[in-house]
Amino acid sequence: MSLDFPLDRTATPVPDAERRALLSDPGFGRWFTDHMAVAAWDAERGWHDGGVRPLAPFTLHPGAAVFHYGQEIFEGLKAYRHADGGVWLFRPEDNARRFARSARRLALPELPEADFVRAVEELVRADAAWVPRADGGPAEGDEGSGSPATSASARSASAPGASGSGEQSLYLRPFLIATEPFLGVRPSTQALFRVIASPAGPYFPSGVTGVTLWITETYSRAAVGGTGAAKCGGNYAGSLVAQTEARENGCEQVLYLDSAGHGTIEESGTMNLCLVTRDGELLTPALGTILEGVTRDTVLALAPELGLRPVERAISLAELRAGAEDGTVSEVFAAGTAAVLTPVTGFKGAGYAFTVGDGTPGPTTLALRRTVLDLQYGRAEDRHGWLRRVR
Ligand SMILES: Cc1ncc(COP(=O)(O)O)c(C=O)c1O
Repeated sequence: MSLDFPLDRTATPVPDAERRALLSDPGFGRWFTDHMAVAAWDAERGWHDGGVRPLAPFTLHPGAAVFHYGQEIFEGLKAYRHADGGVWLFRPEDNARRFARSARRLALPELPEADFVRAVEELVRADAAWVPRADGGPAEGDEGSGSPATSASARSASAPGASGSGEQSLYLRPFLIATEPFLGVRPSTQALFRVIASPAGPYFPSGVTGVTLWITETYSRAAVGGTGAAKCGGNYAGSLVAQTEARENGCEQVLYLDSAGHGTIEESGTMNLCLVTRDGELLTPALGTILEGVTRDTVLALAPELGLRPVERAISLAELRAGAEDGTVSEVFAAGTAAVLTPVTGFKGAGYAFTVGDGTPGPTTLALRRTVLDLQYGRAEDRHGWLRRVR
């Protein structure tokens, strides 16, 4: 039986003026909307108690399994406001499927995909006023969660469009934690599901710039048989020190190699890696120990429309380096929900560095990025059926 997500509307929403001001420059992950979607699971009853409720802290027993053994998974996707005011999700069914796969790997209960999508949709409906216009202006016409009408001065305070680069959205974070208070190491018999939401500003506020990736030989992200393909918190906890190493070496992000030491490239900390070759291939590491990114799949599917042949296979660091140096690899980019496509213009490792192309974002990367954004914001025809209208 599928879950219902009835709305229990908050009596104390963020006032309209404050929300509008936040939406004008939200940054990433700093502010949260008025509500959250919830559901609970236990071994006897299965999934139950679905709803959309006022955002509130957890009260958990200190023995809850999530605190001790990291039994936790999450997802990340966005809601986009189109020019006509409508609000849409992009491929949420793919996030739902990945959430179920992550649950299987972490011995957590699988939330049916339809319930996952419904929870996300109902939260976005409840908090629709938090979905900014693409240019960052407030969502005119969407009332707040019950606060009085907005004053003229509050409206002008938000300076619609000031942050400008047309990529504002509402980031959605579904997650599932193991809550049974029990210190034995075995799958929890209780779990809690939540979806929270946070307005997101443009990833590159002053224009798309390239990043340099640090090729770490100190740390691995994943091993064959491990949790690399699952979106579980532990993968990210383990990546923080590598991220620090990257920063210490003047790089924005990490590029991981395979842990077996064969020197094949895997992915970045929160993005999949793609190479554009001079002879027209869009090349990306095959699945296995990496996260199966929705953006990765999107660019593979769109590649032929831009005259590229999509290829998924193992790619060695030696091949990447030689290709960048002799020009057979003309562009590299990273793909993920947060930044869509991030041009990778250089790499550094212990004792070496190399540049991709002329060290600036490449034309194919920028064209693909524009193509994906045009789809997400409804500026291009959705021929793949990837968009889902929420309101
Ligand atoms: C490790 C990792 N790889 C790749 C991605 C890109 O996945 P997606 O395109 O679904 O956001 C993410 C982000 O979720 C990630 O955390």
